Amino acid sequence: MTPGADAPFEFDPFDEATRRDPFPLFARARREHPVWAPAGAPVVSIFRYDDIQAVLRDPTTWSNAFPPPPGFEPEDLPPSMLVTDPPAHTRLRGLVSQAFTPRMIRRLEPRMNEIAEELVQAALARGRVDLVEALSYPLPVIVIAEIIGIPAEDRAQFKEWSDAAVENLGAVFMGPLPPEQIARQRRVRVEMQDYFRRLVEERRRRPREDLLSGLVAAEVEGSRLSFDELIAMLLLILVAGNETTTTLIGNAVVELLAHPAALAALRARPELLADAVEEVLRFSSPIQMDPRRAARAADVRGHRIEAGQIVLSWLGSANRDETVFERPDDFDITRRDNRHLAFGFGPHYCLGASLASIEAQAALRVLLARTRSIRRVDDAPLPLHPSFVFRAVTSLPLELEPA
Ligand code: HEM
Repeated sequence: MTPGADAPFEFDPFDEATRRDPFPLFARARREHPVWAPAGAPVVSIFRYDDIQAVLRDPTTWSNAFPPPPGFEPEDLPPSMLVTDPPAHTRLRGLVSQAFTPRMIRRLEPRMNEIAEELVQAALARGRVDLVEALSYPLPVIVIAEIIGIPAEDRAQFKEWSDAAVENLGAVFMGPLPPEQIARQRRVRVEMQDYFRRLVEERRRRPREDLLSGLVAAEVEGSRLSFDELIAMLLLILVAGNETTTTLIGNAVVELLAHPAALAALRARPELLADAVEEVLRFSSPIQMDPRRAARAADVRGHRIEAGQIVLSWLGSANRDETVFERPDDFDITRRDNRHLAFGFGPHYCLGASLASIEAQAALRVLLARTRSIRRVDDAPLPLHPSFVFRAVTSLPLELEPA
């Protein structure tokens, strides 16, 4: 149950009711507890757009480098750019940006439509499907596998690694992970290293037009990616790109079904697709929380934060901040000037933001064009992703009526 307005404020991100609808609590937090640090809690939560933007834009004070969580060894956490601060981050970002270019993504758009078309046709042939299994889950894996240059026959293995790698994202900030999960993550990294060693050698000898070849060749001021950095980069792209995009597509369909007028408007005016995807990102942000570690003692809105403390920026709350968005709790696919923080902000701004948006547009474009109607099969609550970092359903059973 969400406590009443006069009850003492409590925010427990593990609580299921809170996870299903955190927005009233976020609104109260923005008003009454913009910096929330209950006694004894290992972390500080912040909820206002301006505070979150200020934290995310200042990597000198708010570091992305975290000490290994309990049970992990330093070598378990490869030095990916997500967990690196400038200047090391700047170098890694420069290298990946040479290979992961807007041109490459634009070139892939027709292929994304084609893959979405195949998946939607297969779903329509079945009529009743789990949309996650049929479309939102396979699409990003196939796309990213093709971008990297993974042979089609290795895709299932590839998805397994991605799932294992992302399994408990965020929960590590709240306590130790069970040893078997740590062991699983260790195994994934070793398996990926063995697998990619062979592929990297191949690309060194015979470069192709894929991301792997680009990463092997990328060079900034005479510096290249080491093999460990390359593995860390690929693992990061998998972890950061697959499940998040799956989530975005799922959340888009969930919100369109919950807002039939928006669904009808989008069917009538497909040119609203790009804005609709932006609104889903704001309204139902796939990544709800973005953590930082205080590199030195600092102040947020008069609240002292000690060096080493962890600050959780609740992006899902920033994206409903009434000082930035008019009618923040309205789902409005015609919204203009949608400055949401769903892809983060500052130096770590999402590398795959435009890829994710274009992919989600492709999925929705094809799904809407090929169906006359889309219905939930029942009103049962949809199963939630195990990690509270995500706002995601893991299954979305639907009945699809062909156009
Ligand atoms: C809807 C889909 C996505 C969402 C909501 C999302 C969200 C985010 C967020 C919030 C960050 C910032 C993390 C931070 O501040 O520490 C981020 C970073 C990142 N994202 Fe995404 N992402 C999505 C899709 C993708 C895709 C498709 C890719 C790649 C193919 C990708 C690759 C990355 C990478 C590499 C970073 C780290 C950038 C850096 O550290 O400089 N993301 N993403």
